[in-house]
Amino acid sequence: MKNSYDLVVIGGGPGGYEAAIRGAQLGFSVACIEKRVHKGEPALGGTCLNVGCIPSKALLDSSHRFEATKHELTDHGITTGDVNIDIAKMLERKDSIVKGLTQGVAGLLKGNGVDWLQGWGTLVDGKGAEKQVKFTPLEGDESIITAKYVILAAGSVPIEIPVAKTDGEYIVDSTGALEFAEVPKRLGVIGAGVIGLELGSVWRRLGAEVVIYEAMPEFLAVADKDISKEAAKLLKKQGLDIRVDTKVTGAEVKDGQVIVTTDVKGETQTDTFDKLIVCVGRRAYSEKLLAENCGIELTERGLVAVDDQCKTNLDGVYAIGDLVRGPMLAHKAMEEGMMAVERIHGEKAQVNYDTIISVIYTHPEIAWVGLSEQAATEQGYEVKTGSFSLSANGRALAQGEGVGLIKVVADAKTDRLLGMHAVSVGAGDIVHQGMIAMEFVSSIEDLQLMTFAHPTVSEAVHEAALSADGRAIHAIQRKKRK
Ligand code: FAD
Ligand code: NAI
Repeated sequence: MKNSYDLVVIGGGPGGYEAAIRGAQLGFSVACIEKRVHKGEPALGGTCLNVGCIPSKALLDSSHRFEATKHELTDHGITTGDVNIDIAKMLERKDSIVKGLTQGVAGLLKGNGVDWLQGWGTLVDGKGAEKQVKFTPLEGDESIITAKYVILAAGSVPIEIPVAKTDGEYIVDSTGALEFAEVPKRLGVIGAGVIGLELGSVWRRLGAEVVIYEAMPEFLAVADKDISKEAAKLLKKQGLDIRVDTKVTGAEVKDGQVIVTTDVKGETQTDTFDKLIVCVGRRAYSEKLLAENCGIELTERGLVAVDDQCKTNLDGVYAIGDLVRGPMLAHKAMEEGMMAVERIHGEKAQVNYDTIISVIYTHPEIAWVGLSEQAATEQGYEVKTGSFSLSANGRALAQGEGVGLIKVVADAKTDRLLGMHAVSVGAGDIVHQGMIAMEFVSSIEDLQLMTFAHPTVSEAVHEAALSADGRAIHAIQRKKRK
Protein backbone atom coordinates (compact mmCIF):
# COMPACT_ATOMS: atom_id res chain seq x y z
CA MET A 1 0.00 0.00 0.00
CA LYS A 2 1.28 3.47 -0.94
CA ASN A 3 0.86 6.42 1.39
CA SER A 4 0.29 9.06 -1.30
CA TYR A 5 -2.14 9.15 -4.26
CA ASP A 6 -3.45 11.67 -6.78
CA LEU A 7 -7.01 10.72 -5.83
CA VAL A 8 -8.50 9.02 -2.79
CA VAL A 9 -12.17 7.98 -3.00
CA ILE A 10 -13.86 7.18 0.31
CA GLY A 11 -16.70 4.70 -0.31
CA GLY A 12 -16.84 1.92 -2.88
CA GLY A 13 -20.54 2.09 -3.83
CA PRO A 14 -21.72 2.86 -7.37
CA GLY A 15 -20.69 6.50 -6.99
CA GLY A 16 -17.28 5.75 -5.48
CA TYR A 17 -16.17 2.79 -7.57
CA GLU A 18 -17.15 4.47 -10.85
CA ALA A 19 -15.24 7.61 -9.82
CA ALA A 20 -12.20 5.47 -8.95
CA ILE A 21 -12.26 3.64 -12.29
CA ARG A 22 -12.76 6.85 -14.29
CA GLY A 23 -9.91 8.46 -12.32
CA ALA A 24 -7.58 5.60 -13.24
CA GLN A 25 -8.67 5.81 -16.89
CA LEU A 26 -7.67 9.48 -16.84
CA GLY A 27 -4.19 8.61 -15.55
CA PHE A 28 -4.49 9.37 -11.83
CA SER A 29 -3.05 7.09 -9.17
CA VAL A 30 -6.18 6.10 -7.22
CA ALA A 31 -7.12 4.44 -3.93
CA CYS A 32 -10.70 3.50 -3.09
CA ILE A 33 -11.36 2.98 0.63
CA GLU A 34 -14.31 0.73 1.47
CA LYS A 35 -15.06 -0.79 4.89
CA ARG A 36 -18.09 -2.94 3.99
CA VAL A 37 -18.09 -6.60 5.04
CA HIS A 38 -20.99 -8.49 3.45
CA LYS A 39 -21.81 -12.03 4.59
CA GLY A 40 -18.38 -12.34 6.16
CA GLU A 41 -16.32 -10.98 3.26
CA PRO A 42 -15.02 -7.50 2.41
CA ALA A 43 -17.18 -6.22 -0.44
CA LEU A 44 -17.28 -3.39 -2.94
CA GLY A 45 -20.47 -2.16 -4.63
CA GLY A 46 -22.02 -0.30 -1.70
CA THR A 47 -25.67 -0.36 -0.76
CA CYS A 48 -26.67 -0.83 -4.39
CA LEU A 49 -24.95 -4.12 -5.12
CA ASN A 50 -25.00 -5.67 -1.63
CA VAL A 51 -28.28 -4.70 0.03
CA GLY A 52 -30.11 -2.41 -2.41
CA CYS A 53 -30.86 -2.29 -6.12
CA ILE A 54 -29.56 -5.71 -7.11
CA PRO A 55 -30.75 -8.05 -4.34
CA SER A 56 -34.16 -6.35 -4.31
CA LYS A 57 -34.50 -6.79 -8.07
CA ALA A 58 -33.44 -10.44 -7.80
CA LEU A 59 -36.26 -11.05 -5.29
CA LEU A 60 -38.72 -9.01 -7.37
CA ASP A 61 -37.94 -11.23 -10.33
CA SER A 62 -38.25 -14.53 -8.40
CA SER A 63 -41.50 -13.48 -6.75
CA HIS A 64 -42.95 -12.22 -10.04
CA ARG A 65 -42.18 -15.52 -11.77
CA PHE A 66 -43.78 -17.41 -8.89
CA GLU A 67 -46.95 -15.35 -8.99
CA ALA A 68 -47.17 -15.37 -12.78
CA THR A 69 -46.68 -19.15 -12.90
CA LYS A 70 -49.34 -19.63 -10.26
CA HIS A 71 -51.99 -17.27 -11.58
CA GLU A 72 -51.37 -16.22 -15.17
CA LEU A 73 -50.56 -19.39 -17.10
CA THR A 74 -54.07 -20.81 -17.17
CA ASP A 75 -55.18 -17.91 -19.43
CA HIS A 76 -52.68 -19.21 -21.97
CA GLY A 77 -54.07 -22.71 -21.75
CA ILE A 78 -51.05 -23.90 -19.77
CA THR A 79 -51.70 -26.10 -16.77
CA THR A 80 -49.17 -26.96 -14.12
CA GLY A 81 -49.16 -29.07 -10.99
CA ASP A 82 -48.82 -27.45 -7.58
CA VAL A 83 -46.54 -24.42 -7.75
CA ASN A 84 -44.21 -24.09 -4.79
CA ILE A 85 -41.28 -21.89 -3.90
CA ASP A 86 -38.14 -22.81 -2.01
CA ILE A 87 -37.31 -19.58 -0.17
CA ALA A 88 -33.80 -20.74 0.78
CA LYS A 89 -33.04 -21.40 -2.90
CA MET A 90 -34.49 -18.02 -3.90
CA LEU A 91 -32.22 -16.26 -1.36
CA GLU A 92 -29.25 -18.30 -2.52
CA ARG A 93 -29.85 -17.17 -6.12
CA LYS A 94 -29.96 -13.54 -4.93
CA ASP A 95 -26.74 -13.98 -2.97
CA SER A 96 -24.89 -15.53 -5.88
CA ILE A 97 -25.92 -12.64 -8.19
CA VAL A 98 -24.68 -10.17 -5.57
CA LYS A 99 -21.41 -12.05 -5.11
CA GLY A 100 -20.77 -12.25 -8.85
CA LEU A 101 -21.31 -8.52 -9.26
CA THR A 102 -19.30 -7.39 -6.23
CA GLN A 103 -16.40 -9.64 -7.19
CA GLY A 104 -16.70 -8.22 -10.70
CA VAL A 105 -16.23 -4.70 -9.30
CA ALA A 106 -13.16 -5.86 -7.37
CA GLY A 107 -11.79 -7.23 -10.66
CA LEU A 108 -12.52 -3.94 -12.42
CA LEU A 109 -10.66 -1.92 -9.78
CA LYS A 110 -7.70 -4.28 -9.92
CA GLY A 111 -7.66 -4.32 -13.71
CA ASN A 112 -7.63 -0.52 -13.76
CA GLY A 113 -4.80 -0.32 -11.22
CA VAL A 114 -6.97 1.13 -8.42
CA ASP A 115 -5.87 0.13 -4.89
CA TRP A 116 -8.85 -1.08 -2.87
CA LEU A 117 -8.06 -0.30 0.76
CA GLN A 118 -10.27 -2.45 2.99
CA GLY A 119 -11.26 -0.37 5.99
CA TRP A 120 -12.48 3.04 7.11
CA GLY A 121 -11.48 6.35 5.54
CA THR A 122 -11.72 9.60 7.49
CA LEU A 123 -10.98 13.02 6.02
CA VAL A 124 -8.69 14.54 8.63
CA ASP A 125 -7.69 17.72 6.82
CA GLY A 126 -9.01 18.84 3.43
CA LYS A 127 -7.96 22.47 3.55
CA GLY A 128 -4.43 22.46 2.13
CA ALA A 129 -3.07 21.30 -1.24
CA GLU A 130 -2.14 17.95 0.34
CA LYS A 131 -5.31 16.42 1.75
CA GLN A 132 -4.93 14.04 4.68
CA VAL A 133 -7.03 10.92 5.00
CA LYS A 134 -6.82 8.55 7.96
CA PHE A 135 -7.09 4.91 6.90
CA THR A 136 -8.21 2.42 9.55
CA PRO A 137 -7.93 -1.08 8.08
CA LEU A 138 -10.41 -3.84 8.95
CA GLU A 139 -7.41 -5.44 10.64
CA GLY A 140 -4.16 -3.75 11.67
CA ASP A 141 -2.98 -0.23 12.48
CA GLU A 142 -4.28 3.04 11.15
CA SER A 143 -2.16 5.31 8.95
CA ILE A 144 -2.33 8.68 7.20
CA ILE A 145 -2.57 8.83 3.41
CA THR A 146 -2.08 12.05 1.47
CA ALA A 147 -3.92 12.93 -1.74
CA LYS A 148 -4.21 15.87 -4.14
CA TYR A 149 -7.92 15.23 -4.50
CA VAL A 150 -10.53 13.47 -2.38
CA ILE A 151 -14.00 12.29 -3.37
CA LEU A 152 -16.39 11.58 -0.50
CA ALA A 153 -18.81 8.80 -1.52
CA ALA A 154 -19.95 7.32 1.80
CA GLY A 155 -23.60 6.88 0.79
CA SER A 156 -26.54 6.54 3.15
CA VAL A 157 -28.18 4.32 5.77
CA PRO A 158 -31.84 3.72 6.72
CA ILE A 159 -33.53 6.33 8.92
CA GLU A 160 -34.58 4.89 12.27
CA ILE A 161 -37.70 6.01 14.09
CA PRO A 162 -38.12 5.83 17.88
CA VAL A 163 -41.66 4.40 17.67
CA ALA A 164 -40.45 1.28 15.83
CA LYS A 165 -36.86 0.47 16.74
CA THR A 166 -35.40 -2.30 14.59
CA ASP A 167 -34.29 -5.47 16.38
CA GLY A 168 -33.00 -7.38 13.35
CA GLU A 169 -35.52 -10.18 13.85
CA TYR A 170 -39.11 -9.00 14.05
CA ILE A 171 -38.72 -5.32 13.25
CA VAL A 172 -36.27 -4.88 10.40
CA ASP A 173 -35.01 -2.34 7.89
CA SER A 174 -34.71 -2.96 4.14
CA THR A 175 -31.61 -5.12 4.62
CA GLY A 176 -33.46 -7.45 7.00
CA ALA A 177 -36.42 -7.60 4.62
CA LEU A 178 -34.17 -9.13 1.95
CA GLU A 179 -33.43 -12.08 4.22
CA PHE A 180 -36.69 -13.47 5.65
CA ALA A 181 -36.12 -17.21 5.86
CA GLU A 182 -39.83 -17.88 5.39
CA VAL A 183 -42.79 -15.94 4.08
CA PRO A 184 -44.37 -14.00 6.95
CA LYS A 185 -48.09 -14.72 7.19
CA ARG A 186 -48.77 -11.07 8.01
CA LEU A 187 -46.27 -8.35 7.15
CA GLY A 188 -46.45 -4.72 8.22
CA VAL A 189 -44.53 -2.02 6.37
CA ILE A 190 -44.00 1.54 7.61
CA GLY A 191 -43.63 3.90 4.62
CA ALA A 192 -45.33 3.59 1.22
CA GLY A 193 -42.24 4.85 -0.60
CA VAL A 194 -40.02 3.05 -3.07
CA ILE A 195 -38.77 0.35 -0.69
CA GLY A 196 -42.18 -0.24 0.89
CA LEU A 197 -43.79 -0.80 -2.49
CA GLU A 198 -40.99 -2.97 -3.91
CA LEU A 199 -40.32 -5.20 -0.89
CA GLY A 200 -44.00 -5.19 0.10
CA SER A 201 -44.73 -6.53 -3.39
CA VAL A 202 -42.06 -9.24 -3.11
CA TRP A 203 -43.52 -10.77 0.06
CA ARG A 204 -47.15 -10.27 -0.99
CA ARG A 205 -46.51 -12.19 -4.22
CA LEU A 206 -45.02 -15.00 -2.15
CA GLY A 207 -48.15 -15.21 0.01
CA ALA A 208 -47.93 -12.63 2.82
CA GLU A 209 -50.84 -10.39 3.74
CA VAL A 210 -49.23 -6.96 3.54
CA VAL A 211 -50.35 -3.74 5.22
CA ILE A 212 -48.41 -0.57 4.31
CA TYR A 213 -48.74 2.49 6.55
CA GLU A 214 -48.11 5.90 5.02
CA ALA A 215 -48.04 9.02 7.19
CA MET A 216 -48.75 11.43 4.31
CA PRO A 217 -52.36 11.98 3.24
CA GLU A 218 -51.51 11.33 -0.40
CA PHE A 219 -50.10 8.16 -1.96
CA LEU A 220 -46.79 8.63 -3.85
CA ALA A 221 -46.97 12.41 -3.73
CA VAL A 222 -43.68 12.73 -5.69
CA ALA A 223 -45.24 11.24 -8.83
CA ASP A 224 -47.61 12.82 -11.37
CA LYS A 225 -51.13 12.58 -9.88
CA ASP A 226 -52.59 10.57 -12.80
CA ILE A 227 -49.78 8.07 -12.40
CA SER A 228 -50.01 7.74 -8.60
CA LYS A 229 -53.79 7.37 -8.82
CA GLU A 230 -53.52 4.59 -11.41
CA ALA A 231 -50.66 2.91 -9.50
CA ALA A 232 -52.64 2.96 -6.23
CA LYS A 233 -55.60 1.36 -7.98
CA LEU A 234 -53.47 -1.42 -9.51
CA LEU A 235 -51.41 -2.14 -6.38
CA LYS A 236 -54.50 -2.27 -4.16
CA LYS A 237 -56.13 -4.66 -6.63
CA GLN A 238 -53.08 -6.91 -6.27
CA GLY A 239 -53.76 -7.05 -2.53
CA LEU A 240 -51.41 -4.46 -1.02
CA ASP A 241 -53.37 -2.83 1.80
CA ILE A 242 -51.99 0.73 1.55
CA ARG A 243 -53.26 2.98 4.35
CA VAL A 244 -52.48 6.67 3.83
CA ASP A 245 -52.79 9.35 6.48
CA THR A 246 -51.86 6.73 9.09
CA LYS A 247 -49.25 7.49 11.72
CA VAL A 248 -47.54 4.61 13.49
CA THR A 249 -47.39 5.48 17.17
CA GLY A 250 -45.80 2.30 18.50
CA ALA A 251 -44.50 -1.18 17.71
CA GLU A 252 -44.02 -3.79 20.40
CA VAL A 253 -42.81 -7.38 20.11
CA LYS A 254 -44.83 -9.83 22.25
CA ASP A 255 -44.78 -13.64 22.00
CA GLY A 256 -43.07 -13.58 18.61
CA GLN A 257 -45.56 -11.10 17.11
CA VAL A 258 -45.26 -7.39 16.39
CA ILE A 259 -48.16 -5.32 17.66
CA VAL A 260 -48.39 -2.03 15.81
CA THR A 261 -50.50 0.87 17.02
CA THR A 262 -51.53 3.63 14.67
CA ASP A 263 -53.30 6.93 14.80
CA VAL A 264 -55.80 7.35 11.99
CA LYS A 265 -57.34 10.82 12.16
CA GLY A 266 -57.35 10.74 15.96
CA GLU A 267 -58.54 7.15 16.29
CA THR A 268 -56.16 4.50 17.71
CA GLN A 269 -55.98 1.21 15.80
CA THR A 270 -53.95 -1.98 16.41
CA ASP A 271 -52.62 -4.64 14.03
CA THR A 272 -50.54 -7.76 14.65
CA PHE A 273 -47.80 -8.98 12.31
CA ASP A 274 -45.14 -11.67 12.05
CA LYS A 275 -42.64 -9.09 10.72
CA LEU A 276 -42.50 -5.33 10.39
CA ILE A 277 -40.33 -3.46 7.86
CA VAL A 278 -39.36 0.13 8.64
CA CYS A 279 -38.60 2.02 5.42
CA VAL A 280 -39.24 5.71 5.99
CA GLY A 281 -36.29 7.07 3.98
CA ARG A 282 -32.51 7.10 4.23
CA ARG A 283 -29.99 9.59 5.64
CA ALA A 284 -26.49 10.55 4.58
CA TYR A 285 -23.82 8.51 6.31
CA SER A 286 -21.04 10.82 7.45
CA GLU A 287 -20.10 9.26 10.81
CA LYS A 288 -16.40 8.34 10.87
CA LEU A 289 -16.06 10.02 7.45
CA LEU A 290 -15.29 13.52 8.64
CA ALA A 291 -12.88 14.39 11.46
CA GLU A 292 -14.06 17.27 13.61
CA ASN A 293 -11.84 19.95 12.09
CA CYS A 294 -11.54 18.64 8.53
CA GLY A 295 -13.22 21.80 7.22
CA ILE A 296 -16.19 20.31 5.34
CA GLU A 297 -19.51 22.13 5.53
CA LEU A 298 -22.73 20.16 6.02
CA THR A 299 -26.29 21.24 5.24
CA GLU A 300 -29.00 21.52 7.89
CA ARG A 301 -30.14 18.01 6.95
CA GLY A 302 -26.67 16.55 7.53
CA LEU A 303 -25.77 16.18 3.85
CA VAL A 304 -22.35 17.29 2.62
CA ALA A 305 -22.94 20.72 1.02
CA VAL A 306 -21.95 20.80 -2.67
CA ASP A 307 -22.55 22.90 -5.78
CA ASP A 308 -23.93 21.67 -9.12
CA GLN A 309 -20.58 20.09 -9.94
CA CYS A 310 -20.34 18.25 -6.59
CA LYS A 311 -17.57 20.56 -5.29
CA THR A 312 -17.58 20.98 -1.52
CA ASN A 313 -16.50 24.20 0.18
CA LEU A 314 -12.89 22.90 0.13
CA ASP A 315 -10.82 23.10 -3.07
CA GLY A 316 -10.05 19.65 -4.43
CA VAL A 317 -12.63 17.86 -2.24
CA TYR A 318 -15.79 16.61 -3.95
CA ALA A 319 -18.80 14.71 -2.58
CA ILE A 320 -21.27 12.59 -4.55
CA GLY A 321 -24.23 10.23 -4.43
CA ASP A 322 -26.51 9.68 -1.43
CA LEU A 323 -24.20 11.84 0.70
CA VAL A 324 -25.32 15.00 -1.14
CA ARG A 325 -28.54 16.76 -2.25
CA GLY A 326 -30.83 15.24 -4.85
CA PRO A 327 -32.50 11.86 -5.22
CA MET A 328 -30.84 8.85 -3.59
CA LEU A 329 -30.39 6.79 -6.74
CA ALA A 330 -27.52 4.65 -7.96
CA HIS A 331 -27.46 6.12 -11.47
CA LYS A 332 -27.36 9.65 -10.07
CA ALA A 333 -24.42 8.64 -7.83
CA MET A 334 -22.58 7.08 -10.80
CA GLU A 335 -22.97 10.11 -13.04
CA GLU A 336 -21.86 12.42 -10.24
CA GLY A 337 -18.78 10.25 -9.66
CA MET A 338 -17.78 10.53 -13.30
CA MET A 339 -18.52 14.26 -13.38
CA ALA A 340 -16.42 14.93 -10.27
CA VAL A 341 -13.38 13.12 -11.64
CA GLU A 342 -13.67 14.70 -15.06
CA ARG A 343 -13.96 18.15 -13.44
CA ILE A 344 -10.80 17.37 -11.43
CA HIS A 345 -9.16 16.47 -14.74
CA GLY A 346 -10.15 19.90 -16.09
CA GLU A 347 -13.07 18.86 -18.27
CA LYS A 348 -16.50 20.50 -18.40
CA ALA A 349 -18.61 17.48 -17.47
CA GLN A 350 -22.08 18.21 -16.10
CA VAL A 351 -24.94 16.05 -14.83
CA ASN A 352 -28.33 17.11 -16.18
CA TYR A 353 -30.36 16.96 -12.99
CA ASP A 354 -33.57 17.68 -14.94
CA THR A 355 -33.50 14.29 -16.64
CA ILE A 356 -32.76 11.88 -13.79
CA ILE A 357 -35.17 8.98 -14.15
CA SER A 358 -37.11 7.44 -11.23
CA VAL A 359 -38.28 3.84 -11.45
CA ILE A 360 -40.26 1.84 -8.92
CA TYR A 361 -39.92 -1.83 -9.86
CA THR A 362 -43.42 -2.99 -8.96
CA HIS A 363 -45.45 -4.82 -11.58
CA PRO A 364 -46.39 -2.91 -13.59
CA GLU A 365 -43.47 -0.55 -13.06
CA ILE A 366 -43.97 3.10 -12.13
CA ALA A 367 -41.47 5.47 -13.75
CA TRP A 368 -40.98 9.06 -14.73
CA VAL A 369 -38.54 11.65 -15.99
CA GLY A 370 -38.79 15.44 -15.85
CA LEU A 371 -41.73 17.47 -14.58
CA SER A 372 -45.13 16.17 -13.56
CA GLU A 373 -48.18 18.11 -14.69
CA GLN A 374 -48.47 19.57 -11.19
CA ALA A 375 -44.78 20.57 -10.95
CA ALA A 376 -44.81 22.13 -14.42
CA THR A 377 -47.92 24.15 -13.50
CA GLU A 378 -46.31 25.26 -10.24
CA GLN A 379 -43.24 26.40 -12.19
CA GLY A 380 -45.45 28.71 -14.25
CA TYR A 381 -45.67 26.74 -17.50
CA GLU A 382 -48.82 26.78 -19.54
CA VAL A 383 -49.07 23.01 -19.61
CA LYS A 384 -50.39 20.63 -22.21
CA THR A 385 -50.58 16.90 -21.60
CA GLY A 386 -51.40 13.77 -23.52
CA SER A 387 -51.90 10.25 -22.24
CA PHE A 388 -52.68 6.82 -23.56
CA SER A 389 -54.06 3.77 -21.81
CA LEU A 390 -52.30 0.44 -22.20
CA SER A 391 -55.72 -1.17 -22.44
CA ALA A 392 -55.69 -0.08 -26.11
CA ASN A 393 -52.11 -1.12 -26.88
CA GLY A 394 -52.01 -4.33 -28.91
CA ARG A 395 -48.64 -5.55 -27.67
CA ALA A 396 -49.46 -4.97 -24.01
CA LEU A 397 -52.75 -6.85 -24.45
CA ALA A 398 -51.02 -9.73 -26.28
CA GLN A 399 -48.66 -10.02 -23.31
CA GLY A 400 -51.51 -9.91 -20.80
CA GLU A 401 -50.22 -6.53 -19.63
CA GLY A 402 -52.99 -4.20 -20.81
CA VAL A 403 -53.12 -2.04 -17.68
CA GLY A 404 -51.72 1.37 -16.81
CA LEU A 405 -50.99 4.46 -18.86
CA ILE A 406 -48.28 6.59 -20.40
CA LYS A 407 -48.43 10.38 -20.11
CA VAL A 408 -46.45 13.24 -21.64
CA VAL A 409 -46.22 16.77 -20.22
CA ALA A 410 -45.22 19.70 -22.41
CA ASP A 411 -44.97 23.47 -22.52
CA ALA A 412 -48.09 24.54 -24.46
CA LYS A 413 -46.37 27.71 -25.72
CA THR A 414 -43.29 26.08 -27.27
CA ASP A 415 -44.49 22.44 -27.54
CA ARG A 416 -41.28 21.38 -25.69
CA LEU A 417 -41.45 18.05 -23.86
CA LEU A 418 -41.07 18.62 -20.10
CA GLY A 419 -41.77 15.17 -18.72
CA MET A 420 -42.78 11.58 -19.44
CA HIS A 421 -44.59 9.39 -16.90
CA ALA A 422 -45.66 5.78 -17.02
CA VAL A 423 -47.27 3.06 -15.02
CA SER A 424 -46.95 0.15 -17.40
CA VAL A 425 -45.11 -3.01 -18.22
CA GLY A 426 -41.48 -1.94 -18.77
CA ALA A 427 -42.17 1.66 -17.67
CA GLY A 428 -38.55 2.03 -16.53
CA ASP A 429 -37.32 1.42 -20.06
CA ILE A 430 -40.16 3.33 -21.72
CA VAL A 431 -39.36 6.64 -19.98
CA HIS A 432 -35.78 6.50 -21.29
CA GLN A 433 -37.35 7.63 -24.55
CA GLY A 434 -38.56 10.72 -22.70
CA MET A 435 -35.10 11.26 -21.21
CA ILE A 436 -33.41 11.13 -24.61
CA ALA A 437 -36.08 13.33 -26.18
CA MET A 438 -35.69 15.90 -23.39
CA GLU A 439 -31.89 15.88 -23.70
CA PHE A 440 -32.35 16.78 -27.37
CA VAL A 441 -34.95 19.46 -26.48
CA SER A 442 -37.61 17.62 -28.48
CA SER A 443 -41.16 18.81 -28.94
CA ILE A 444 -44.39 16.85 -28.79
CA GLU A 445 -44.50 17.28 -32.56
CA ASP A 446 -41.12 15.49 -32.87
CA LEU A 447 -42.59 12.48 -31.05
CA GLN A 448 -45.69 12.65 -33.25
CA LEU A 449 -43.62 12.61 -36.45
CA MET A 450 -41.49 9.58 -35.53
CA THR A 451 -42.43 6.06 -36.66
CA PHE A 452 -42.75 3.66 -33.75
CA ALA A 453 -42.60 -0.07 -34.48
CA HIS A 454 -45.81 -2.09 -34.31
CA PRO A 455 -46.67 -3.89 -32.15
CA THR A 456 -44.66 -2.43 -29.27
CA VAL A 457 -45.55 -0.94 -25.90
CA SER A 458 -43.59 2.14 -27.08
CA GLU A 459 -46.43 2.87 -29.52
CA ALA A 460 -48.26 4.16 -26.44
CA VAL A 461 -45.62 6.93 -26.23
CA HIS A 462 -46.48 7.91 -29.81
CA GLU A 463 -50.20 7.82 -29.07
CA ALA A 464 -49.73 9.85 -25.85
CA ALA A 465 -47.88 12.51 -27.87
CA LEU A 466 -50.62 12.47 -30.53
CA SER A 467 -53.28 12.74 -27.85
CA ALA A 468 -51.66 15.95 -26.53
CA ASP A 469 -53.10 17.55 -29.71
CA GLY A 470 -56.28 15.49 -29.84
CA ARG A 471 -54.88 13.24 -32.56
CA ALA A 472 -54.55 9.79 -30.94
CA ILE A 473 -55.97 7.13 -33.22
CA HIS A 474 -56.77 4.31 -30.82
CA ALA A 475 -58.74 6.42 -28.34
CA ILE A 476 -61.76 8.65 -28.70
CA GLN A 477 -60.40 12.21 -28.59
CA ARG A 478 -62.32 14.90 -26.76
CA LYS A 479 -59.55 17.50 -27.07
CA LYS A 480 -59.65 20.11 -29.85
CA ARG A 481 -57.67 18.72 -32.78
CA LYS A 482 -54.57 20.46 -34.15
P1 FAD B 1 -23.55 3.59 -1.26
O1 FAD B 1 -23.99 2.64 -2.28
O2 FAD B 1 -24.28 3.63 0.03
O3 FAD B 1 -22.01 3.27 -1.01
C1 FAD B 1 -21.27 3.93 -0.05
C2 FAD B 1 -20.23 2.98 0.50
O4 FAD B 1 -19.34 3.73 1.32
C3 FAD B 1 -20.82 1.90 1.40
O5 FAD B 1 -20.50 0.63 0.90
C4 FAD B 1 -20.18 2.14 2.76
O6 FAD B 1 -19.81 0.92 3.40
C5 FAD B 1 -18.94 2.93 2.40
N1 FAD B 1 -18.49 3.84 3.47
C6 FAD B 1 -19.25 4.72 4.17
N2 FAD B 1 -18.46 5.43 5.01
C7 FAD B 1 -17.20 4.96 4.84
C8 FAD B 1 -15.96 5.30 5.41
N3 FAD B 1 -15.84 6.28 6.32
N4 FAD B 1 -14.87 4.63 5.01
C9 FAD B 1 -14.96 3.65 4.08
N5 FAD B 1 -16.10 3.29 3.49
C10 FAD B 1 -17.21 3.96 3.86
N6 FAD B 1 -31.25 3.02 -6.48
C11 FAD B 1 -31.53 2.93 -7.80
O7 FAD B 1 -31.09 3.79 -8.58
N7 FAD B 1 -32.27 1.89 -8.28
C12 FAD B 1 -32.77 0.92 -7.49
O8 FAD B 1 -33.43 0.01 -7.96
C13 FAD B 1 -32.49 1.00 -6.10
N8 FAD B 1 -32.96 0.05 -5.26
C14 FAD B 1 -32.66 0.13 -3.93
C15 FAD B 1 -33.18 -0.84 -3.07
C16 FAD B 1 -32.91 -0.77 -1.72
C17 FAD B 1 -33.46 -1.85 -0.81
C18 FAD B 1 -32.10 0.27 -1.21
C19 FAD B 1 -31.77 0.34 0.26
C20 FAD B 1 -31.57 1.24 -2.04
C21 FAD B 1 -31.87 1.19 -3.41
N9 FAD B 1 -31.41 2.16 -4.30
C22 FAD B 1 -31.71 2.09 -5.63
C23 FAD B 1 -30.60 3.29 -3.83
C24 FAD B 1 -29.11 3.04 -4.14
O9 FAD B 1 -28.71 1.84 -3.53
C25 FAD B 1 -28.27 4.21 -3.65
O10 FAD B 1 -28.78 5.42 -4.17
C26 FAD B 1 -26.84 4.05 -4.10
O11 FAD B 1 -26.27 2.86 -3.61
C27 FAD B 1 -26.00 5.24 -3.63
O12 FAD B 1 -24.69 5.08 -4.04
P2 FAD B 1 -23.47 5.74 -3.25
O13 FAD B 1 -22.25 5.32 -3.96
O14 FAD B 1 -23.74 7.18 -3.04
O15 FAD B 1 -23.53 5.10 -1.79
P1 NAI C 1 -38.89 6.98 0.46
O1 NAI C 1 -38.50 8.36 0.75
O2 NAI C 1 -39.06 6.52 -0.93
O3 NAI C 1 -40.29 6.65 1.16
C1 NAI C 1 -40.49 6.77 2.53
C2 NAI C 1 -41.98 6.91 2.78
O4 NAI C 1 -42.21 6.78 4.15
C3 NAI C 1 -42.55 8.25 2.35
O5 NAI C 1 -43.69 8.06 1.58
C4 NAI C 1 -42.85 8.95 3.66
O6 NAI C 1 -43.93 9.84 3.59
C5 NAI C 1 -43.14 7.77 4.56
N1 NAI C 1 -42.90 8.01 5.98
C6 NAI C 1 -41.89 8.70 6.55
N2 NAI C 1 -42.00 8.64 7.89
C7 NAI C 1 -43.08 7.87 8.17
C8 NAI C 1 -43.69 7.40 9.34
N3 NAI C 1 -43.20 7.71 10.56
N4 NAI C 1 -44.79 6.62 9.25
C9 NAI C 1 -45.30 6.28 8.03
N5 NAI C 1 -44.76 6.70 6.88
C10 NAI C 1 -43.65 7.47 6.93
O7 NAI C 1 -37.85 6.07 1.28
P2 NAI C 1 -37.55 4.52 1.24
O8 NAI C 1 -38.66 3.76 0.63
O9 NAI C 1 -37.09 4.19 2.61
O10 NAI C 1 -36.32 4.44 0.25
C11 NAI C 1 -35.12 5.17 0.54
C12 NAI C 1 -34.46 5.61 -0.71
O11 NAI C 1 -33.88 4.52 -1.38
C13 NAI C 1 -35.44 6.22 -1.69
O12 NAI C 1 -35.49 7.60 -1.49
C14 NAI C 1 -34.87 5.90 -3.01
O13 NAI C 1 -34.14 6.99 -3.48
C15 NAI C 1 -33.94 4.73 -2.76
N6 NAI C 1 -34.51 3.54 -3.41
C16 NAI C 1 -34.66 3.55 -4.76
C17 NAI C 1 -35.23 2.50 -5.41
C18 NAI C 1 -35.43 2.57 -6.87
O14 NAI C 1 -34.87 3.46 -7.50
N7 NAI C 1 -36.21 1.67 -7.47
C19 NAI C 1 -35.65 1.30 -4.69
C20 NAI C 1 -35.48 1.41 -3.27
C21 NAI C 1 -34.91 2.48 -2.68
